[in-house]
Amino acid sequence: MQALTINLGARSYPILVGPGLLETAWAEQARVLGGRVCVITNAVVAPLYLERLRAALAQVGADATALVLPDGESFKNGATLDAIYDHLLGERCDRSTPVVALGGGVIGDLAGFAAATYQRGVPFIQVPTTLLAQVDSSVGGKTGINHPRGKNMIGAFWQPRLVVADTETLNTLPERELSAGLAEVVKYGLIRDLPFLEWLEANMDQLMARDAAALSFAIERSCANKAEVVAADELETAREGGRALLNLGHTFGHAIETGMGYGNWLHGEAVAAGTMMACELSRRLGWLSAADLERVRALLLRARLPVRGPALGADIYLDLMGHDKKVVAGRLRLVLLRRLGEAVTWAEATPAEIRAAIVASCD
Ligand code: NAD
Ligand code: GLY
Repeated sequence: MQALTINLGARSYPILVGPGLLETAWAEQARVLGGRVCVITNAVVAPLYLERLRAALAQVGADATALVLPDGESFKNGATLDAIYDHLLGERCDRSTPVVALGGGVIGDLAGFAAATYQRGVPFIQVPTTLLAQVDSSVGGKTGINHPRGKNMIGAFWQPRLVVADTETLNTLPERELSAGLAEVVKYGLIRDLPFLEWLEANMDQLMARDAAALSFAIERSCANKAEVVAADELETAREGGRALLNLGHTFGHAIETGMGYGNWLHGEAVAAGTMMACELSRRLGWLSAADLERVRALLLRARLPVRGPALGADIYLDLMGHDKKVVAGRLRLVLLRRLGEAVTWAEATPAEIRAAIVASCD
């Protein structure tokens, strides 16, 4: 097992990564559990892991109530959030009852937002079961729901007390979801960790084959990168760079997710196509070479990810991107690459430049 720490002063917390942790993590972490916990999960994950988690928690004296939600991004909304509040109230959960998210990023974001807001905030524990959640969404405290007009538009920063990433849960993950998680893994290499990017180029086939050692290394390295970035700029307020750099490809990707209807393109798939748009714009600005662009494309293709966006039309992309949270004073603040391994925030791209990059990167 690897234990990383995210350094946020009094709100610092451990990120545990390793096989079998669903069962073995709790004895030493019992301080974050009360006598009761409320597990939020979904109809796909519950049959696989809920009873194992419940039994492990019972062994350390924590009695778990559970709410099993319908599966999917299309349920990451206000109606599902209300169902969580109804459950917490119905079970008489109080301000000391931790909410435990057992599932992927959808469950983590929903349960985290419920934890942030129920009775003005209750303790929160992340038990991520997708690669994407283990390398990204369970770490750093972003929580929230979608609005029909925009992805992740309603939310709060609410840090978990603990993240438990059991790498064995990835054995049941569908291949398309494994690929989606790899989009966020590649992101860390592209924005700030060239040696990791090179490692990914050498090891992508092992990752796709679910080699346990390769997956563990990729998860730990991703979490270590994310922990450093979040510790330096927890609330994404840095004027330049900072936490915003974790959004490489996301402003384009959110337009794909919203434009195609939530759940049709997976988040990681949209991020992969969005990353290629950001790289294309970086090439047009003279920062990346054609060979760099080809290197990124080849790596994403080996992860079986889409490298071109859907044909929404540039006007729709630009309209949806204009609603993104990354708009500052009316200008899109995009994350672009100065070179492979070094990202910047950039608000100087003109609408014409952005449009041209979209047109060149779409079907
Ligand atoms: P997801 O939560 O929808 O999970 C993907 C699918 O895998 C679902 O069908 C789920 O039920 C299933 N699943 C989960 N664990 C499984 C397992 N071990 N075995 C078999 N099936 C399993 O999607 P995701 O990719 O994990 O997360 C995407 C969400 O995360 C998006 O809503 C995105 O906006 C959000 N996100 C949040 C942050 C953040 O910082 N909070 C960062 C990145 C992404
Ligand atoms: N996924 C972007 C962030 O956590 O900031």
